[in-house]
Amino acid sequence: MGVEGLNPENTPVGEKKKRKTGPEDASYITTAVIELRPALYMELMFCKWVLAFLLYCWLIFAVGFSVEGLHENSRVRGVNLGGWLVIEGWIKPSLFYDILNGDMLDGTEVQFKSLTLQKYVSAENGGGMEVTVDRDIPSSWETFRLWRVSESIFQFRTSQGQFLTCNGDGGNVTAAAESASVTETFYIERNLNNRVHIKLKSGTYLRASKANQLTADYLGTPGWDDNAATFEMIIVSNILHGDYQLANGHEHDKAKEVLKKHRNTFITVEDFNFLYRHGINTVRIPVGWWIAFDPNPPAPFIGGSLEALDNAFSWAQAFSIKCIIDLHAAPGSQNGMEHSASRDGKTGWPTSPDHISQTLDVIDFLASRYAKHPALLGIELLNEPSAGSVPLDILVSFYKQGYQIVRKYSSTAYVLFCQRIGNADPFELYQANLGSENTVVDLHYYNLFDNFFVNMSSLDNIQYIYKNRQTQLQALNSANGPLVFIGEWVNEWNVTGGSQTDYQDFGRAQLEVYNAASFGWAYWTLKNDIKHWDFEWNIQSNYLQLQLGYSSSNQIFILVLFLGLACGCSFLH
Ligand SMILES: *[C@@H]1O[C@H](CO)[C@@H](O)[C@H](O)[C@H]1NC(C)=O
Ligand SMILES: *[C@@H]1O[C@H](CO)[C@@H](O)[C@H](O)[C@H]1NC(C)=O
Ligand SMILES: *[C@@H]1O[C@H](CO)[C@@H](O)[C@H](O)[C@H]1NC(C)=O
Repeated sequence: MGVEGLNPENTPVGEKKKRKTGPEDASYITTAVIELRPALYMELMFCKWVLAFLLYCWLIFAVGFSVEGLHENSRVRGVNLGGWLVIEGWIKPSLFYDILNGDMLDGTEVQFKSLTLQKYVSAENGGGMEVTVDRDIPSSWETFRLWRVSESIFQFRTSQGQFLTCNGDGGNVTAAAESASVTETFYIERNLNNRVHIKLKSGTYLRASKANQLTADYLGTPGWDDNAATFEMIIVSNILHGDYQLANGHEHDKAKEVLKKHRNTFITVEDFNFLYRHGINTVRIPVGWWIAFDPNPPAPFIGGSLEALDNAFSWAQAFSIKCIIDLHAAPGSQNGMEHSASRDGKTGWPTSPDHISQTLDVIDFLASRYAKHPALLGIELLNEPSAGSVPLDILVSFYKQGYQIVRKYSSTAYVLFCQRIGNADPFELYQANLGSENTVVDLHYYNLFDNFFVNMSSLDNIQYIYKNRQTQLQALNSANGPLVFIGEWVNEWNVTGGSQTDYQDFGRAQLEVYNAASFGWAYWTLKNDIKHWDFEWNIQSNYLQLQLGYSSSNQIFILVLFLGLACGCSFLH
């Protein structure tokens, strides 16, 4: 295997120590024997050959799965640069401070209850029909997702995806518009008790009519008492805090300022130094599709992420670290989550051929720009497509085209295919014939985000790693086709009050098992306000002990065999 790129010093500490033990101990033993019993020289020579052969076997075994582009016998020991060029509010909540009506960002789910009728506003059938004010108990038809125009101007999307619309003074509000423009735009006045008035641009307020309709015909200006134009607004969920919410939440200039500062300070050259010193040889860098349009991406996205990615490549190169570019957010969103920059929780990517072809253009842009950069290790075509909304055939077709695009620019860069999240078996990607050279399937292993892990003890968690994770990894490792990558995992679980030792044990188990992945692993994530997710905190606080993780039982077995035979050789004489 062609192996180049990483500085030898970059080999993880534990592995280096272990590799030294073998040959040095053995030569010490054989030299001693030669001095003591020169008459047996010939036989000892034979022993030496045996030892040399075993040493050779051991080295071959150790380098068996090496990754092209990394130094010597290494695989990816990576860390994700999460929350940097793709925003996730939970990683750094302060980015969202100071937004006016900051609890009314894009995608926030709201309900409205009339104070005169004591009924909820409802889009019959979830959209496409009249809007009534006649429900006692709110559910999905009564829940609207905000599209924010400014801190006081909004559009309202129904559960089926239509928008509330009103053709003007005196009209009824319906829920039949398939897209949002002037007639779908409403002005909100809000008081401290979460009471709201909703009005048209003309100034006419909406009211709940006695016939249980939502109509644009309130006469005059309502106060905050229980009148027909005053509604209680209930915020049902406010979970999306991604690039769309940030850029569209702040005023445009403020958003530029916040993102510029974040991109310049959250990750710096010092972090690459830290990673290098701790034996990390790769970073996986999430990027959003708008990077291809730098410096002027479509609104509301903010330019500048391309320059930051260029910096990351330079810093990586300086510390002999490799980069995996990971397209984390595709146009339309491939999973409805904030980290795919979904505006309102919908997954629009798979149903739009335009979005899919734009995504291929982004891959083309990234591949052409970085293919010849010495720090490039690979390109991941799409992070975490949702199994529930991205059909396998659509994804496979995209992955195959993406592979060909990367190959136009590079014959060696790895092409990474992320497994679908949710209910999908990663084997589906092994059966799909996605590409012939240097391909990788990326699995994300979290003992979180699923009721399955709730109430598990620390021991249960560790056993799950050794049983389920290891079994799946071994099966995929020996399957024909792509290498296996645990591209996201974290030293955190659903256990409350775990001790430092508990965390060390959990981290050790994960490292031991994930070290066997044929391509390697990457921790999620380098920095996080929640310390247990923060790689640097884990290392500095000794909650994650990287060097212990490198004890591959197979290598120890061969080493013991090797030393055993060495001793055997000397005692025989
Ligand atoms: C509003 O809706 C009601 C009930 O469907 C209907 O009777 C009325 O004519 C509508 N008004 C307007 C102005 O469309
Ligand atoms: C976890 O344990 C609590 C308390 O015993 C129980 O109420 C809850 O249903 C359990 N949750 C799950 C997902 O098993
Ligand atoms: C465990 O999972 C439950 C349910 O998802 C969640 O409410 C709780 O906060 C989690 N606890 C920890 C320690 O992660």
